[in-house]
Amino acid sequence: MIDILVGSQMGAAEYVAEQVAETLVQAGYEINIHLKPELDHLNPTNVWLVITSTYGAGDLPDNIQPFADQLAQDRRDLTTLSYAVITLGDSGYDTFCEAGRKLNRILAGKAAKLLLAPLEIDAQQADLPEDIALAWLPELIKVLP
Ligand SMILES: Cc1cc2nc3c(=O)[nH]c(=O)nc-3n(C[C@H](O)[C@H](O)[C@H](O)COP(=O)(O)O)c2cc1C
Repeated sequence: MIDILVGSQMGAAEYVAEQVAETLVQAGYEINIHLKPELDHLNPTNVWLVITSTYGAGDLPDNIQPFADQLAQDRRDLTTLSYAVITLGDSGYDTFCEAGRKLNRILAGKAAKLLLAPLEIDAQQADLPEDIALAWLPELIKVLP
């Protein structure tokens, strides 16, 4: 089971999440999409795939910020958890993709296992974010438990 945790302000990251979920379902995985992730509704023996954009000055979108706060304050360690991160951002900001980097730091600090290097999607790239994510997905599938 893969939990997809979505952070999206204007919908781009949510659309990426839907496309990624569809492809993973076709590949035979069971997927749960969380548009308002809550720590109590997530199982740390599943794989978590965080798909978030970045807002403000390196901030998390409003729908996922409360989850990041819950997670940062939680005392359990997450040694059973494997996770991956896709971040949408814009390299015009010097806080490029900082939202995903923040969540990655919190999860790594709880001893969760990062499955592969996070994907950072730059809005200044010519390709659509969902196309970049789908092209990366086979790398993730290779390392999924
Ligand atoms: C007001 C505003 C602030 C932003 N701040 C950042 C930022 O600090 N770092 C970054 O990498 N991207 C930043 N972005 C770019 C967004 O992350 C990017 O456009 C993303 O595709 C939006 O996805 P969403 O529609 O899922 O929210 C910002 C965009 C806006 C409109």
